[in-house]
Amino acid sequence: MDSRPVGIFDSGLGGLSVWREVRRLLPGESIVYFGDGKNCPYGTKLEQTIRRLTIDAIGRLMDRGAKIIMLGCNTATAAAIGDLRRMYPGFPFVGVEPALKPAVEQSRNKSVAVIATIAYMASDGYRQLVERYGNGVQVFSAPGKGFAMLVEENKEGTKEAFDTISMVIEPLIGQGADTLVLGCTHYPFLTRDIKRVIGDRPVTIINPAPAVARRVQVLLQQADALAPADNTPQFEFLSLAGKDYSRRLAEMARKALSMDI
Ligand code: DGL
Repeated sequence: MDSRPVGIFDSGLGGLSVWREVRRLLPGESIVYFGDGKNCPYGTKLEQTIRRLTIDAIGRLMDRGAKIIMLGCNTATAAAIGDLRRMYPGFPFVGVEPALKPAVEQSRNKSVAVIATIAYMASDGYRQLVERYGNGVQVFSAPGKGFAMLVEENKEGTKEAFDTISMVIEPLIGQGADTLVLGCTHYPFLTRDIKRVIGDRPVTIINPAPAVARRVQVLLQQADALAPADNTPQFEFLSLAGKDYSRRLAEMARKALSMDI
């Protein structure tokens, strides 16, 4: 038993889509969330910059005594998880990557689309993922240009969101993809907008967050490190962007619990 918090990191608000799954699956766990906020978006930055920012953020979660750390960011996972594992040998890190394997299994016409940040799509991690699971299927990829900032700027449900999303999703569906993989943790917060663009076309949307939360559960169980049954969970929201942003993280986390995403 271990009552120390689970740490979750993202460039900003996006990782709250995994925060909510951890919260739902493991209601007794304390969680310390670090959403950079100041340097967001990461997805348009150079890999070395993303790595530096991520390593710095993880150090802060370590200082808070996290017992396991989830990188709730595909872009940061691809850029830094290898370095982090070398820096903190044996420490449990859980990364997130686009759920290509289940998408390929579910696709009826063997044609799937992945949307993620520009930096993630350029990463070795993405190339390896497609090599591993993309055999015998068509994998269409497109950067979700501007998507993460729609969430950061609270523009869900606006015409700007619809137009920005249409520009990326229309060509992907037009090429025949029947399964859409959300390869950035911000994107689940745009699910309603994405569905509006898809309309009545038979496209399944895949969000990896529930599977990532299950992975955290399994690792904690294996290490006998779940919080004791009588634990009163605490929730902390940290950022580099000041108190207002930390309050926004807390507010969005609360809302995320009841969202249909
Ligand atoms: N949420 C992040 C991800 O999963 C990236 C968003 C950003 O560009 O900062 O990739």
